[in-house]
Amino acid sequence: MPFAPIEWQNNKVKIIDQTSLPKKLSYLYIQTAEEMFDAIKTLKIRGAPAIGIAAAFGLYLGIKDYKTTSFKTFDKKFKDIIKYLSSCRPTAYNLFGAMERLQDKVGQFKKYPIETIKGAILEETLKIQMEDNKTCQSIGEKGANLIKDADAILTHCNAGGLATSGYGTALAVIFKAKEQGKKIKVYVSETRPLLQGARLTCWELAQEKIDTTLICDNMAGEVMKEGKINKVIVGADRIALNGDTANKIGTYSLAVLASFHNIPFYVAAPISTFDPKIRTGEDIPIEQRDPGEIENFAGKRITPKGTKIYNPAFDVVPNSLITCIITEKKLVYPSYRKNIKKVL
Ligand code: MRU
Repeated sequence: MPFAPIEWQNNKVKIIDQTSLPKKLSYLYIQTAEEMFDAIKTLKIRGAPAIGIAAAFGLYLGIKDYKTTSFKTFDKKFKDIIKYLSSCRPTAYNLFGAMERLQDKVGQFKKYPIETIKGAILEETLKIQMEDNKTCQSIGEKGANLIKDADAILTHCNAGGLATSGYGTALAVIFKAKEQGKKIKVYVSETRPLLQGARLTCWELAQEKIDTTLICDNMAGEVMKEGKINKVIVGADRIALNGDTANKIGTYSLAVLASFHNIPFYVAAPISTFDPKIRTGEDIPIEQRDPGEIENFAGKRITPKGTKIYNPAFDVVPNSLITCIITEKKLVYPSYRKNIKKVL
């Protein structure tokens, strides 16, 4: 990929400010846990795997200058920062998985000096980032086996390089298929209200010179009826043990439409997005966002004052509508409860 969404540089975290894309490719230099909280909350960095990596760096930034020689005092501060960062966005499991992983690491190092523990936190964070890179490549390879020459694929929101350490999940499948010489068309739904599809996915696909067509979210049914789409591939924010999948609001509607039109519906996601504690989609916490995101469009109010607004950021696709989950380890097919258990 010609860009790096998140980098550790001179004791700072350099991120692409995704809110200014595609107009401007600009960077932010994050130096504190509070700045990272804000960057995640305001979607300057977003997408489940990228949120996990960003939060892990945020945790390190929050603890790196904390002065104490007592493990107990250090651990309390560390856990307070975890609690704080975990309250940022509730749906993407990668954030919680990364926090747990760093907590385990600290547990393993509890007998060591505090400065050594801090070093271990940074090292583990960089490992999470590096692993995600390999994982995305592997998702791309596994998923590309499902893609045929001349396929027309619909994707939603942005599950590309920007949403990960750099290569994406749903888009990794598309990038890899293209690398293999397959000629594919991609339809992108704009993804109201924050337009991650129109702004970010179209930007990424343009850089890879992939034949891309943007549609409004409410056009998907018509486009499917016209026979223009033969596969849907989306990312995921959290997957329950039975395969129910939370992803950007609108994904459920696409899955229902795909089922009605007999179009295979694929979810591409790393193992780090599966929540081993959640049995079904009903238990996945869904983020509710500021009504202002719907009240306003391009900086201008579009509804009469006082209009009631409902703004869930995600919805849950029941496992029965998912043809296959593309992971870095293998393609997981129904029966999901049994096969997810095996892959975890
Ligand atoms: O609100 P966002 O932009 O963070 O939502 C992102 C998505 O829904 C993505 O599809 C998902 O996180 C998968 S990213 C590989």
